[in-house]
Amino acid sequence: MSKKILNPPSPKMLINSIRQIGYSFESAVSDIIDNSISASAKNIDIFFPVNSDEKMYTAFVDDGSGMSRKGVINALKIGSSFEGERKQNDLGRFGLGLKSASFSQCRKLTVASKVNDQLVAFGWDIDDVEKSNEWFCNEYSSNEIKAIPQIDKISILKNGTLVVWREFDLISSKLESVKDLHRQLSNILELTRTHIGLHFHRYLNKKLVISINNVPIVGLDPFLENHLKIEKGQLSSLSLKAKNNQEYTVQIQPYTLPHYLDLSDEDIALLGGIDKIRAGQGFYIYRQERLIVHNTWFGIGAKAEVFKYARIKVDIPNTLDDIWDIDVKKQNAAIPAKLLAHFRKTVGDIQLRSKKKTRHKQLAIGQDDNKIWNKKKARNGKESYYINLDSKFINEYINENFHETSYSKIYSLLEIIGSTIPFDAIYNSVCNQCIDTDLDSEKEREIIEIAKNMALKFAQVKKIGIDKSLQAILNFEPFNHLDIKKVLKELGCE
Ligand SMILES: Nc1ncnc2c1ncn2[C@@H]1O[C@H](COP(=O)(O)OP(=O)(O)OP(=O)(O)O)[C@@H](O)[C@H]1O
Ligand SMILES: [Mg+2]
Repeated sequence: MSKKILNPPSPKMLINSIRQIGYSFESAVSDIIDNSISASAKNIDIFFPVNSDEKMYTAFVDDGSGMSRKGVINALKIGSSFEGERKQNDLGRFGLGLKSASFSQCRKLTVASKVNDQLVAFGWDIDDVEKSNEWFCNEYSSNEIKAIPQIDKISILKNGTLVVWREFDLISSKLESVKDLHRQLSNILELTRTHIGLHFHRYLNKKLVISINNVPIVGLDPFLENHLKIEKGQLSSLSLKAKNNQEYTVQIQPYTLPHYLDLSDEDIALLGGIDKIRAGQGFYIYRQERLIVHNTWFGIGAKAEVFKYARIKVDIPNTLDDIWDIDVKKQNAAIPAKLLAHFRKTVGDIQLRSKKKTRHKQLAIGQDDNKIWNKKKARNGKESYYINLDSKFINEYINENFHETSYSKIYSLLEIIGSTIPFDAIYNSVCNQCIDTDLDSEKEREIIEIAKNMALKFAQVKKIGIDKSLQAILNFEPFNHLDIKKVLKELGCE
């Protein structure tokens, strides 16, 4: 019979591996906020020194339930134990977030906490763990406690918790000079505002205040629920069985945003800027009202300019974590197979609504998706031309060659290029009959090459013959000017 051998992890190795789970600064901050929300905090204050002479730190103060000495020791344990069932408002799951999020950013993590005026403070120092190769954490003496940054903020509370990050070695290692750390972290923290504003908007807009250096963060509602022209689709509640065999409800609420001409500057700011409207299409998955995944159609549909007004809010309870494959960073989730058919239908419906909305304002202008350039009429009745971002070619090309995260930048670039047409110069050249509209052979070769690849892909995806696929492609720009014989020759089907 085999023998049992105790084989514990090497502290030095494990603590450094945990650092590389892949948190961004914003997602690490969000994990600390999750803990404060789970502890029923009403106020969460994030501080960092504005004076660059002061040593950099990030401090999180909350007025939640706080922790006893035993509680803080357990909180700092890699893999905190948890007895019984998690409460409904508990955003935690793995017993790891406080440590993994903190170590992903800093070498020194301090937690001071207070229950009924009893203040205790403990901390991890990665240097100590590396030196001793043991899981020794530090209990702070009352004198040491006095020196913890922002400790006075928790001293005035009856219950609450202060988490402090110090020694940002990973961020510093990417900087040219140590002096840049202050500027870099201040910048990241300010950018974190938008991330928190979006991910916690449902808390910020009713029951919680989160501030950075005393400036409250504004909740960013991606559905503009208060806008008069927001269109809410049918709300569905679906039951799913968790691993414990109990049924829990998932709620799905589709939205179509108002047309951008109906948006005020304030609305656009709430959506994060005009270019974020397009990027923001897709699902928004909330776990206990905290956003975890957004800006994706989960592969059910492609992102496109015409779908930019379509958004689907999905609410899942923490009791269904297993089924949704929630990860440690609370950044990923996968759609359970049982919901796929319903989601597909909802995506189809909402994308169609968005498409209609886009078309609605453009039809009067006349849009032809076979063309790359379309004509539009301005409000003053004058005509102009623009790059049609829904052109079959542009959509296919972008979806095929770029990652989703780059779409909004590429679309913005095309819009800028489209808005700088040198009309006068073109007009003069046309009048002087000195404009060259022929494709040079190099360009033609490139276009044939793209046509060839697209035709092959179309044939494969749509399961049709190559000549049928080619016929379809040659209907739209820039392929409609090609010599079909040349393309067929390229494809080896003369
Ligand atoms: N600000 C806080 N106030 C009160 N208790 C806290 C606070 N932060 C952490 N804790 C306690 O420490 C425990 C461990 O926190 P940690 O973030 O490591 O894991 P978790 O929240 O249980 O799960 P997850 O890994 O999913 O975040 C929490 O379950 C909670 O009991
Ligand atoms: Mg946590």
